[in-house]
Amino acid sequence: MKIAVLGADGQLGRDLCPRLAALGEVVALSRADIDLRITVPRYIASAVIALRPDVLVNCAAYNLVDRAEADSITPFEVNAQGVSSLALGCDDIGAKFVHFSTDYVFGKDAARTVPYTEDDHTGPLNSYGSSKAAGETFAQTAAPNSLIVRTCGLYGMWGSGGKGGNFVETMLRVATQGKPLRVVNDQRCTPSYTADVAAATVALLERGATGLFHVTNSGDCTWYEFAAEIFRQEGLKPELVPVTSAEFGAVAKRPAYSVLSTAKLLAHGIPPLRPWHEALAAYLTERQNKSV
Ligand SMILES: NC(=O)c1ccc[n+]([C@@H]2O[C@H](COP(=O)([O-])OP(=O)(O)OC[C@H]3O[C@@H](n4cnc5c(N)ncnc54)[C@H](OP(=O)(O)O)[C@@H]3O)[C@@H](O)[C@H]2O)c1
Repeated sequence: MKIAVLGADGQLGRDLCPRLAALGEVVALSRADIDLRITVPRYIASAVIALRPDVLVNCAAYNLVDRAEADSITPFEVNAQGVSSLALGCDDIGAKFVHFSTDYVFGKDAARTVPYTEDDHTGPLNSYGSSKAAGETFAQTAAPNSLIVRTCGLYGMWGSGGKGGNFVETMLRVATQGKPLRVVNDQRCTPSYTADVAAATVALLERGATGLFHVTNSGDCTWYEFAAEIFRQEGLKPELVPVTSAEFGAVAKRPAYSVLSTAKLLAHGIPPLRPWHEALAAYLTERQNKSV
C-alpha cells in the first residue's frame, strides 16, 4: 500500500509518518510537492493522480489563527479549496482521503458545557475555524469515502513550524525569562499530544473507518490549568496569572468551550486516549530524553 502524506514536516505529520510505515510505503510530501495555495484548475488534483497513492493523508493546513482574521483569502485557499482539490484527486483514482480538522469549527454556542459530538452542527467564531469547517464539507462532498479527524490543542516533539513551536515549549521558554505569565482561564478544551493522535488515526485507518471522528486525549482543562500542570510536572514556580480572553486580547475570538466527545472512537473499538496530564508527562519525558 502506498501512503502519501502532505504536511509531513509538520508536528502531526512527523509523528504520523513513522506509524503509517507499519501499513505500507510512506511518501512524505511537502509544500514543494503540492502547494495547497495554487488555485490553477485541476493542478492539485492532477498532482495527486500522478502520485497514484492508495491513501493520501493531509496534515497540511494554514493554522495561523490570529493572522487569518486579517486575510480572508489564504486560509480558505489552503484549508478549503486546496482540500477540496486533494479530495477530488483521491476520488478520481479511488484513493482514500484522510484529513485533519479542529475543535475551532465550534464556539458559536456560548452556553455549551458538554462535549461536542460529531453530529453537532459546527459554528466557528473565527476565520481559521470557518475555513476548516468549509474544508470538512468540501472533503466529504468531493470524496464521500474520506476519513476526517477533528483534534484539538496539538503539541508534539517537532512543534508547529507556522506557530513557531507549541504551547508547552512557549510556557517553558517564557518561564525562564522571569516575567509574569498571563494565560487565559476561560477557554476549556483538551490539549492533545501528536503521538497519541497519530496512533489513533492509524488505528482508524486499519479499521477502514470513514466519516468524521473526534480524536483527542481524555479530560479537559483551560489553558491556564494546562500551564499550571506543565510547571507542576517540571517543578517550576513562575508567576502564573489567570486572565480572561478579553484581558488577553488575542485578535481572533476563540471558543470558551470546545471539548470534543470521543465516544464514537470507542464505539469503533479504539480505547480512549490517555488523560491529557498523562500525555503531557510522556511528552516531557520524551523531550528530556531527546535533550540528553
Ligand atoms: N496545531 C494545533 O493546535 C491544531 C489543533 C487542532 C487541529 N489542528 C489541525 O491538525 C493538522 C496538523 O496541524 P499541525 O499542528 O501539525 O500543523 P503544523 O505543524 O503547522 O504543520 C502544517 C504543515 O502544513 C504545511 N503547509 C502550510 N501551508 C501549506 C500549503 N499552502 N501547501 C502545502 N503545505 C502547506 C506546512 O508546511 P511549511 O513548513 O512549508 O509551512 C507544515 O508542514 C492541521 O489540519 C491543523 O489544522 C491543529
